[in-house]
Amino acid sequence: MNSSTRHSLVDEFREVMAGVCTPVSVVTALAADGRPHGTTVSAFASLSMAPPMALVSLDRGSDLLALVRETGRFGINVLGSEQSAWALRFAGKGADKFTGVPWDPHVGVPRLPGCGGFLGCTVADLVDGGDHVIVLGEVVAAEAILGRPLTYHSRMFGTHAALEEMCR
Ligand SMILES: Cc1cc2nc3c(=O)[nH]c(=O)nc-3n(C[C@H](O)[C@H](O)[C@H](O)COP(=O)(O)O)c2cc1C
Repeated sequence: MNSSTRHSLVDEFREVMAGVCTPVSVVTALAADGRPHGTTVSAFASLSMAPPMALVSLDRGSDLLALVRETGRFGINVLGSEQSAWALRFAGKGADKFTGVPWDPHVGVPRLPGCGGFLGCTVADLVDGGDHVIVLGEVVAAEAILGRPLTYHSRMFGTHAALEEMCR
């Protein structure tokens, strides 16, 4: 496979993944000095029911990943459809992403108020996956809040709509 073929394969891969609708979460951790940190993540999935486990995939260069490695804990704040501003804010870089954002510590990780759901996790394993690291978390706290989810599809935020025929 030459380099131009590889390039087009990656481009095509990106396009396929852009067409996959994902949830949007802010994954959080607390630094040793008590400072909260968070990162917007679409690569989040349920992994196991017994025990309850979830996974997130973080870029090797993520500051949040460094904190998760240090502390062995992370929170998954599943965003609702009214929270796209948080998705944009936490997709940035820097130590001040939480400035002006309300949060409270829950099972040792930052929890954002009014999210579609919250999971508190302890790190069960870290698995290398190319330029990302898959963080496997054992769920130690779970809170479901009813509401419309924030989704990401075709590089745009949106929400889920039920098919009419499924509602009948
Ligand atoms: C909708 C959306 C989804 C994202 N999903 C991921 C993801 O699954 N994993 C990841 O590592 N970065 C993801 N990012 C990019 C990170 O949020 C971004 O690189 C962030 O600046 C990393 O911050 P940190 O270095 O403080 O961890 C996503 C960004 C957006 C806007």
